[in-house]
Amino acid sequence: MKAIEIRNKYLNFFKNHGHKIIPSAPLIPENDPSVLFTTAGMQPLVPYLLGQKHPEGTRLTDYQKCLRTNDIDEVGDNRHLTYFEMLGNWSLGDYFKEESIKMSYEFLTKELGIPAEKISVTCFAGDEDCPRDEVTASCWEKAGIPKERIYFYGKDDNWWIAGEEGPCGPDTEMFYDTGKPKCSDDCQPSCDCGKYVEIWNNVFMEYYKKDGKYTKLVQRNVDTGLGLERMTMLLQGKETPFDTELFSPVMDKLKELAKEDDIASRRIVAEHMRSSMMVIADGGRPSNIDRGYILRRLIRRMTRHLNKLQIDLEKLPELIDLNIDILKEMYPELDSHRLEIKDVIINEKDKFMKTLNHGEREFNKVINRLKNQGINVIDGKTIFNLYETYGFPPEVTKDLAQENGFKADLSKFDELFKEHQDKSRMGSDQKFKGGLAEQNEKTIAYHTATHLLNAALKKVIGPNSHQRGSNITTERMRFDFNCDHKLTDEEKKKVEDLVNEWIKEDLPITVETMKKEDALKSGAECMFIEKYPDEVTVYTIGNVSKELCGGPHVKHTGELGHFKIAKEEASSQGVRRIKAILE
Ligand code: ALA
Repeated sequence: MKAIEIRNKYLNFFKNHGHKIIPSAPLIPENDPSVLFTTAGMQPLVPYLLGQKHPEGTRLTDYQKCLRTNDIDEVGDNRHLTYFEMLGNWSLGDYFKEESIKMSYEFLTKELGIPAEKISVTCFAGDEDCPRDEVTASCWEKAGIPKERIYFYGKDDNWWIAGEEGPCGPDTEMFYDTGKPKCSDDCQPSCDCGKYVEIWNNVFMEYYKKDGKYTKLVQRNVDTGLGLERMTMLLQGKETPFDTELFSPVMDKLKELAKEDDIASRRIVAEHMRSSMMVIADGGRPSNIDRGYILRRLIRRMTRHLNKLQIDLEKLPELIDLNIDILKEMYPELDSHRLEIKDVIINEKDKFMKTLNHGEREFNKVINRLKNQGINVIDGKTIFNLYETYGFPPEVTKDLAQENGFKADLSKFDELFKEHQDKSRMGSDQKFKGGLAEQNEKTIAYHTATHLLNAALKKVIGPNSHQRGSNITTERMRFDFNCDHKLTDEEKKKVEDLVNEWIKEDLPITVETMKKEDALKSGAECMFIEKYPDEVTVYTIGNVSKELCGGPHVKHTGELGHFKIAKEEASSQGVRRIKAILE
């Protein structure tokens, strides 16, 4: 079965069980600067898991584009991916354990045709925060899984939360037995020898964790996640996702072009190219911080491995076209952003090649200095500096060192690199944590201010000015909009004055649910129409603004304080950026 068929089967199955199919949220979370990328299907649904009413009801299903980069350095082995698609279904205070398990079992055995004896499951063993999940185990038995294939584990394995704070709960995981021999008498689903592969995770989300403490949510939810690439691989009897139709045409093409074949490098190229394309199609651009830096790393690593394979970089456009062609049926946005995707990747590749050349000059300086000092080892710190400052890859340093009769102390480099990685990992964990927690008064006020700013720009610049992006922290807001010129001081003042006037008027903010078509007919503003479900929420501010939006917002504009534009600058071609604060 092809990946797209599995996706369609999944969505249809849950649709037939009363779920509304909702669109994938973008990989880059809207209005949520504190999360780098969408990493799970539940992430865009957090407000609804916490009790807000979802316009599509209490049973939802979707495919969600996800990017997880914590294990970026593991890509190249037979299983790690940065981009993946998560199929999910949710109960928002609707069904709970029994129905969820019944549906999962039916989907796996009947729809996908997985023999029941190949399925093992795990349940939460219980601790001081939450009792042993006997209910889930007995639901599994009732569904058809015998006791000997039901395992109990603690929080490390059978508890799910995104980060440190947020909705969470015990989960039950389904494992597929690949038929490989047990690695020991005690080989179990928790073992990572490769016999058992996790295929689906159902989280029974009825708790909220904050400051290490658990409280009950207002409703009991189910949140599930099934990794599409992995399921595709298993159903096709393949050893790795790279052997499925999602990757194999690119893998084969790389093999054909490579003068020096290396399977790990080919996987890295194919995988990072796919992730970069997905990020770019959703609006991401390379930069030196946060999301942009991750995209930069993906493209640079891809380029490095193309070099390693000795593939002519002039072939890159052809490879990108091929990759888009494989995936465009699943992700039409790749096709519609084809030119942009190629431009961004190729520009970044060119920049990186300059960096490499620059790094090589620095490397030569280092070599000359060491020669003069009579030293024949390049120490780890120097290798790290070349990497950190010039983006010069350690393996290139090592190769060049050898060519020059030098040794390279890569073990010290690895140590420094690991320290650096731990630091940045801590950074991104923190961000994830923030993302779920950080809908506080300040960010909510900024969110409402973006709607006012959007409306003011339309009045001052013209009705064709539209939002192109936004980014909010507790400190400030950033708002991108299309406009073909730098705003004059007069225009900026007019915009500021308008927003402050509306704040002073203390306009009420109302929310209603309506059909997408009706919302558009009523003149509601919306950034990416295709990303919204058929039923949408529309926020109206007095008679100045009407936008499709998931909220939340303040109740009256008077709560915002004083609006001030701190900066106006270019963002990209035809797009300007305003940074503003509420004082
Ligand atoms: N949110 C759960 C996960 O990501 C389903 O595994």
